[in-house]
Amino acid sequence: MKPIWGRGAEAICRLPIQFSTSNFNELRLAMDSRTVRKARQMVETDRAFGMDFVPVRERSSVAQEVVQVQIAVAAQPPDPQRVIARTDLSREQKAASLAELARQTEEWVRAHWPRDGWNRFVFGEGDPAAQLMFVGEGPGAEEDAQGRPFVGAAGKLLDRQIIAMGLAREAVYIANIAKTRPPGNRVPTPQEAERWMPWLERQIEIICPRVIIALGATASKYLLNDPKLAITRQRGQWCSFRGIDLMCTFHPAFLLRSYTVENRRRVWEDLCKVLQRLGLEPPKREPSAP
Ligand code: URA
Repeated sequence: MKPIWGRGAEAICRLPIQFSTSNFNELRLAMDSRTVRKARQMVETDRAFGMDFVPVRERSSVAQEVVQVQIAVAAQPPDPQRVIARTDLSREQKAASLAELARQTEEWVRAHWPRDGWNRFVFGEGDPAAQLMFVGEGPGAEEDAQGRPFVGAAGKLLDRQIIAMGLAREAVYIANIAKTRPPGNRVPTPQEAERWMPWLERQIEIICPRVIIALGATASKYLLNDPKLAITRQRGQWCSFRGIDLMCTFHPAFLLRSYTVENRRRVWEDLCKVLQRLGLEPPKREPSAP
C-alpha cells in the first residue's frame, strides 16, 4: 500500500471505506461489540470531515486486513430494524402523541415505580418537532419540585449553552433517562436505566430529532448501550442512536464542578459540531463560552 504522508515508520496509508473481504463474517464474529462500536465512531467522525478513507499507520502492529474488516463493519449502516424511521407527522400530531405517551408513562410510574422519595414525575419538555434533543441523567431536587427537566443550577447553565448556540430553550427538546428523581440524587442503577429506556426510546421515536446530545456519562452510556463508556474519551465524537446522530458531551453539573476554560472549550467545540451538523452557523464568540 502506498503511503500518502508521513515518513519512515510513521508513514500513513489511506484505507478506503468499503465493504469487501472474503473472511468478513469470521473476523466480524471475532470482534467484540466495543471494537465494532469504536470502529463505527471512527468512520463516522472521518465521514463528518468529508473523508472517504481511514488513515492507518503503515507499520501498525494490527494486521491491515483486520483493520480493513473493522472499517467494513463500521461502514455498514445500522441495523435497519432498529433505525428510527422519519415520519411526516405534523408538530400538532407529535405533540398529541407525546402527551399520550406522557400520560401512559406516568400511569406506569405510579403503578410500578417504588415511592423512594421522589415527588413529581418529570417527562420532558420542549418543541415536539425539535431538530435537537438533549438527554440528561435524571431529575434533581429542583426538577423534582417543579416537574420539569433541567430547571436547577445545571439547567441554568444548559439554558446559557442553548442561547450561546443561537437557539431558544423552547425550540429544542429536553428529557432525561430517569423520569423520577433517584433517592438522594444518586445515579440511576443499570437496572433502573433498563426499565426507563423503552419510555425514552418511544419519546425519541416521536420527536425524531436530527441530533441528540447526551449530557454526561449516564445518558451516554445508556443511549450507546456501553456500560464501560468513559465520557472523557467519548465526548466530541459522532455516534448514532438508532440511526439518529448522537453527540456526547460533559454534563452541565460536571462543568459547574470543574468550571475550567479547558472544559468549557471542549463542550463548546462539541456544541459547534452539532450546529454544523444541523446546518447552522455557530455564533462568533469566545472558544470557551459559556
Ligand atoms: N440533571 C439531569 O441530568 N437532569 C435534570 O433534569 C437536572 C439535572
